[in-house]
Amino acid sequence: MENNRRMLKRPDTKVVGLENKMMDILQPSEGTTKEIPSKKGINPLIDDSCISYLNYRIQQEEYSSRIYLAMSMWLNNEGYMGAAALWRKYSDEELTHADIARKYMLSFGIQPVTPRLDQPKQTFAGLPEIIKLSFEHEIEVSKQIKEMANHALADGDHMLYELALAYLKEQVEEHDKTQTWMDKLEAFGTDKIALRLLDNDMAELG
Ligand SMILES: [Fe+2]
Ligand SMILES: [Fe+2]
Repeated sequence: MENNRRMLKRPDTKVVGLENKMMDILQPSEGTTKEIPSKKGINPLIDDSCISYLNYRIQQEEYSSRIYLAMSMWLNNEGYMGAAALWRKYSDEELTHADIARKYMLSFGIQPVTPRLDQPKQTFAGLPEIIKLSFEHEIEVSKQIKEMANHALADGDHMLYELALAYLKEQVEEHDKTQTWMDKLEAFGTDKIALRLLDNDMAELG
C-alpha cells in the first residue's frame, strides 16, 4: 500500500495511468466471479504493488496473444496464409510470456489472477496495417515493462528487477521482428506483388 501511494505521488502521469489499469483488472465485470486469488502471505519479499505489476503483466501478455490471434484469423480469411501462420505463432508465444510472471508469483506463494480480457480489434485494412499495429503494440508493451523495472529498482526489489530484465530481453527480439516487417514495407512497398512476396517470407517463419 505504501508503494502504491508513492507511485501516485510521482509526477509521471504515465505511471498513474498504468496503475489505474492495473487496479482495473482486479475489478470483476458483471457476471464474473468475485473470488480473490489466494496468497499465503508468509513471504515478505513480495508485496501488493509487486503483485499488481505481475498480474497486470499476465493480463497484458494474454491480451497481446488475443490481439495477434484476431490478426491471424483476419489474415487467414483474406488469403494471407503465410502471415496468418506467423501471427498465430506470435499469438502462441505471448501466452508463454504470461507464464513467466505466473511462475514467479507461485514461487512466492501467490496465486496469479486469471484475468478478464477485452475483445481486440477484429477487422483490418490490410497486411500493412497489421504490421504497423503490431509494431506499435510492442512499443507499448516495452513501455509497460520499463515501468515495472523502474518500480522494482525504486523499491530495491532486485528479484522483480531481474524478471523485468528478462521480459525486456524478450522485447528486443519482438522489436527486431516488427522492425524487419516495417523495413520491408518501406523498401518494397505495398502493391499486391510486394505483399504476396512478403506473405511468402512470413510463411518461412510461421
Ligand atoms: Fe510478450
Ligand atoms: Fe510481443
